[in-house]
Amino acid sequence: MGEFSFKKLTFAFVIAILVWASSLETCNGRRGKHWRHSRGTLTSLYKKKGSNHGHQVINVEKSKSKSKSKSKPKQKHPLPTPEEPVAPPQKGSKFNVLDYGAKGDGASDDTKAFQATWADACKVEASTMIVPSGYEFLVGPISFAGPYCQRNILFQLDGTIIAPTNAKAWGKGLLQWLEFTKLVGLTIRGKGTIDGRGSVWWTNSVLEDPIDNEEQLVISLDNTTVTKNPQVGSSLEEKMPSTKPTALRFYGSFNVTVTGITIQNSPQCHLKFDNCDGVLVYSFSVSSPGDSPNTDGIHLQNSKNVLIHTTDLACGDDCISIQTGCTNVFVHDVNCGPGHGISIGSLGKDGTTACVSNITVRDIKMQNTMTGVRIKTWQGGSGSVQGVLFSNIQVSEVEFPIMIDQYYCDHSSCTNHTSAVALSNIAYENIRGTYTVKPVHVSCSDSKPCMDVRLTDIELKPVPKGYHMYDPFCWQAFGELYAPTIPEIGCLQQGTPSSSWSPDETGCAA
Ligand SMILES: *[C@@H]1O[C@H](CO)[C@@H](O)[C@H](O)[C@H]1NC(C)=O
Ligand SMILES: *[C@@H]1O[C@H](CO)[C@@H](O)[C@H](O)[C@H]1NC(C)=O
Ligand SMILES: *[C@@H]1O[C@H](CO)[C@@H](O)[C@H](O)[C@H]1NC(C)=O
Ligand SMILES: *[C@@H]1O[C@H](CO)[C@@H](O)[C@H](O)[C@H]1NC(C)=O
Repeated sequence: MGEFSFKKLTFAFVIAILVWASSLETCNGRRGKHWRHSRGTLTSLYKKKGSNHGHQVINVEKSKSKSKSKSKPKQKHPLPTPEEPVAPPQKGSKFNVLDYGAKGDGASDDTKAFQATWADACKVEASTMIVPSGYEFLVGPISFAGPYCQRNILFQLDGTIIAPTNAKAWGKGLLQWLEFTKLVGLTIRGKGTIDGRGSVWWTNSVLEDPIDNEEQLVISLDNTTVTKNPQVGSSLEEKMPSTKPTALRFYGSFNVTVTGITIQNSPQCHLKFDNCDGVLVYSFSVSSPGDSPNTDGIHLQNSKNVLIHTTDLACGDDCISIQTGCTNVFVHDVNCGPGHGISIGSLGKDGTTACVSNITVRDIKMQNTMTGVRIKTWQGGSGSVQGVLFSNIQVSEVEFPIMIDQYYCDHSSCTNHTSAVALSNIAYENIRGTYTVKPVHVSCSDSKPCMDVRLTDIELKPVPKGYHMYDPFCWQAFGELYAPTIPEIGCLQQGTPSSSWSPDETGCAA
């Protein structure tokens, strides 16, 4: 009964939206050049869709051009006559994908229904797009594009969204599967799951994938290098594209929140924020196998004012990866493992400039990860990493709990360069637990030695796991050691290097 009347209510909303949309047509005529120009771009994007290259860009404009096309499907509900009084869409309206034709049977393609739902939700401030529980929605690559969307939209995800596993759905390869761009105040919330069904990708291009540098230091006691990331999954007839998509990506958005949901088995990175200001992630999970290649948990790039907490991350690469252009990032109460730990970098690849500052990572538990807390930079880069605090990190059977590597290289042919991303004001405090290969590895650049590295309350005990075990190692690392530490760390040099550098010369704003 309740559900029936809710459907009626939704039906009434749909009518209202349809009427409102047709009235919008006239409003558009008054808009300026910029609007019309953008519209042209979007339309052309839409036309290209058939070639399977780009995303299915959806927003208000596209849905409109679609409704004008001749192949318009039969109107489900009769349109009210223009004379009827029109209720404008109300702030906080709800839009359920089931009302837009989504089947949620795990087999039918629900992409179009998601597009249509978003197109309507986009127009209403603080609207809710509902992806209900008890259903499994098969959705292809899709962009919830927002330059003209209202603020504070809630994407209520309680059901499951699954990715297509046939190569055709991905064209020549895409950088992401589900994308939210240019939105303000968007929230994804619920107890639902986003399942990238990545195993079909992991097998295919595993030989081309970069292997984490640190693996080279893991030598089993029978004197052979340990090869990780073995083939997983099963062989397939269809070859997936070599570009593997991130499951969920936010681009160019302000004040976005992700909470409650789980993202699992992404082909590549699970959750990515790129060019965002104001990011909140909490009560969130990532789940994929420890041997799935390049499956970062959360990836941050060119993003600031980020808070990540109360989150469980299990994956095949970095649990959290903080890349160039990130500042004011606070991560706390995160469980990481399996995975490669929490990393800043890799930075400065191919001679690029990287600037990262004010990063705090605290109250973390790591289990069976490759590294614990790490900074990795390539030779030949420039820029700086300044102001990093790793605090209260509990490690359990972690290969390399404390690591700075300025000689990072994820393939065999890397050349030596003098320039480097400069590191200063890096604190490791209260790092405790067990390691299986090397407790401390701080390998800094000859030309830009690490400055102001502080090690406090370090207590790391070995657990033999059949690998060669090393003593703490430091190279060109300067700062302060607050003894005693377990094990004894004798390699950190006190004070500042003779070849000290100033932050002004790094090319990053202070
Ligand atoms: C491994 O190499 C070391 C020295 O390189 C040698 O002493 C040791 O016997 C080797 N172990 C095995 C199992 O071959
Ligand atoms: C994002 O949130 C902050 C803090 O609530 C607020 O000051 C800022 O104006 C918001 N940004 C946008 C673009 O709405
Ligand atoms: C550093 O980042 C934190 C958030 O982690 C923020 O509260 C603080 O204001 C930032 N400090 C500076 C100097 O910007
Ligand atoms: C780079 O430098 C290291 C250490 O000095 C050296 O062992 C290595 O051969 C050099 N590599 C190249 C390609 O010059």
